[in-house]
Amino acid sequence: LPGDLVRHYSLAVSDEHPQSYVIAVKRDAASRGGSLHLHDEARIGDRFKVLPPRNNFPLNEQARHSIFFAGGIGITPIWSMAQRMAKLGRAFELHYACRSRNDAAFLDELTKLGDVRLHVDEECGGKPIDLVAAVAAAPAHAHLYCCGPLPMLAAFEEATAAWPAEQRHVEYFTAKHDVARDGEFSVVLARSGLTLQVKPGETILEVVRRAGIAAPSSCELGICGSCETAVLQGVPDHRDSLLSESERAAGDMMMICCSGSKTPELVLDI
Ligand code: FES
Repeated sequence: LPGDLVRHYSLAVSDEHPQSYVIAVKRDAASRGGSLHLHDEARIGDRFKVLPPRNNFPLNEQARHSIFFAGGIGITPIWSMAQRMAKLGRAFELHYACRSRNDAAFLDELTKLGDVRLHVDEECGGKPIDLVAAVAAAPAHAHLYCCGPLPMLAAFEEATAAWPAEQRHVEYFTAKHDVARDGEFSVVLARSGLTLQVKPGETILEVVRRAGIAAPSSCELGICGSCETAVLQGVPDHRDSLLSESERAAGDMMMICCSGSKTPELVLDI
């Protein structure tokens, strides 16, 4: 996008051999630039550079039963997954929470897809979707997916806490943790041998860039994975919303836009 903005959007239509990509972008008045540009300024005929898709929220296509929970614009990856499962003839149910029917995306197409249960807040006195009941009714072999606002994701994580990690899948589109800005550690860039000091108030990404070293990034909130970097030594202080518990424990990858260090020094593969 103009101004060197890089944004990630879910591909909303599942197609093994796509001739085009379909995305859905909600207009967000508090946008940092992406959604407002696409809604207010982008015009038919504009050209954008597009990088290949990456998958931080993979679908288990072999699951005997899948249960999808979507809140608001979190429907975009879930809509794609539900279409894929419908095409494969796999059993699934989809719980879609939205403020009002006007707010719901893809509603006509969704209801034709199969077992789609709509939860409209304003029709339920503002009561949130009952994730606990839906999870309690799920067969033990089901795979459970959730994409939506932070309170919904927190409720999902709580409701599925006892489930095996490989059967619970979440995607964050807002940050779950604060960016680490404690500083007071050094970063050794293994490829150049440079040692940089990260001071309080700074992120690793900012310090690396200031040293004139190009480092990819997009969200700078720990939710897209663009800045993922291999850790060769030291213990990261993970603040992203992407890595699993086992990936965090392994400690060999980190998101340098938001994560810090628990050790006085980190050696990174940069
Ligand atoms: S830039 Fe998105 S996770 Fe770091």
